[in-house]
Amino acid sequence: MNKLFKNMMGWVDARFPATETYEYHMSKYYAPKNFNFWYFFGVLSMVVLVNQLVTGIWLTMSYNPSGEGAFDSVEYIMRDVEYGWLLRYLHSTGASAFFVVVYLHMFRGLLYGSYKKPRELVWIFGMLIYLCLMAEGFFGYLLPWGNMSYWGAQVILNLAGAVPFIGGELVTWVRGDFLISGATLNRFFALHVVAIPLVLVALVFMHLVALHHVGSNNPDGIEIKKNKGPDGIPLDGIPFHPYYTVHDLVGIVVFLAIFSVVVFFFPDGGGYFLERPNFEPANPLKTPDHIAPVWYYTPFYAMLRAVPSMFGSAFPGVVVMGAAIAIMFVLPWLDRSPVKSIRYKGWMSKVWMVIFVISFVVLGYLGVVPSSGTTLGIDNTLLARVLTFLYFAFFILMPVYTSIEKCKPVPDRVTGGSH
Ligand code: HEM
Repeated sequence: MNKLFKNMMGWVDARFPATETYEYHMSKYYAPKNFNFWYFFGVLSMVVLVNQLVTGIWLTMSYNPSGEGAFDSVEYIMRDVEYGWLLRYLHSTGASAFFVVVYLHMFRGLLYGSYKKPRELVWIFGMLIYLCLMAEGFFGYLLPWGNMSYWGAQVILNLAGAVPFIGGELVTWVRGDFLISGATLNRFFALHVVAIPLVLVALVFMHLVALHHVGSNNPDGIEIKKNKGPDGIPLDGIPFHPYYTVHDLVGIVVFLAIFSVVVFFFPDGGGYFLERPNFEPANPLKTPDHIAPVWYYTPFYAMLRAVPSMFGSAFPGVVVMGAAIAIMFVLPWLDRSPVKSIRYKGWMSKVWMVIFVISFVVLGYLGVVPSSGTTLGIDNTLLARVLTFLYFAFFILMPVYTSIEKCKPVPDRVTGGSH
């Protein structure tokens, strides 16, 4: 049997680099031995990606992408299709899970300076993935054709109308009609089901190729390739397979257990994963009491609302919102610190990191609540303005505080790691 397998693999390898690819990415990929909790979220992002692709394909089999049939077809999936309710909830809860794991994954990059040389492209591909995910979520949200789908798309598409001079024509062009209609739904369906997933999968592939080309970073931010044994293998590296495949399985099982609890017991996430007005069909004559995007967009939505309009146009807000995302792309060039990991950075980086996290989270909260209210006695709009300012200050001042602060000495070899 073993001989037969060897012969078969020899035949394949002479025609396709199967063993070579497996060794390069798995059994001979030496990953730092000190990966911690934060290193689970890359593989978890892959798990959620596969969940979205598989459940998405099955949902498409029973979904009807038309203004007349969309809402009813989702009800049909929920009530009549075998396990349709499960497919839908896995997909809708999966969207929120995607952002949970991706935000934690990005935060790990921030903590350990994983975006710094030589991993700038890993980060840039990651940011492009993030943009695709935001677009994918937006297009997907219109598909159930619920009332929040309709009005959420209305608010966001109208932002294109804020572009000076061409705004009006631009919105009509994007909608494909003079109002959001079946034509808009059809193009969103094409983008959500075909175009963006293709780009997303291609980007994830490039993200991993770039990562394996340079090697993984680790919580100490030490390049393990600098310390190799006589056999050319990094002294602080362990083969990805079997060590991290088994290690990651533990994370996957824990994640799936938590995910199942949400899918089976709280599929609407208390109105945050599936918003209440979306249980009613789209109605152009009935605006929901309070239009709020799904939680993962709310930090940016809060920024959009915080910026005052100019000559009655929301364009400045749109620019600030775009800049909030764009600035993350150039992070590798803003961080001038001689060290990568927050463990060895100075106190200024640590303080700014805390400010950044608080700003992002509180902005996320402010994006859900009405901007006219108050939080802890502070006017919501004022608070959102201050936090937007701090969000940008974290990035803009980074070249300054990372170059003047005193860092701790970085050890030669990685610390910790129970292997
Ligand atoms: C579909 C979404 C994504 C998938 C499937 C994915 C997958 C992965 C995997 C499997 C790894 C290696 C394991 C790990 O280090 O956790 C990784 C590393 C990395 N990812 Fe992602 N990723 C995604 C999105 C992103 C995003 C949005 C960013 C940031 C903008 C990002 C930045 C990074 C960085 C910097 C690393 C290297 C980390 C290190 O070596 O310390 N990724 N990714």
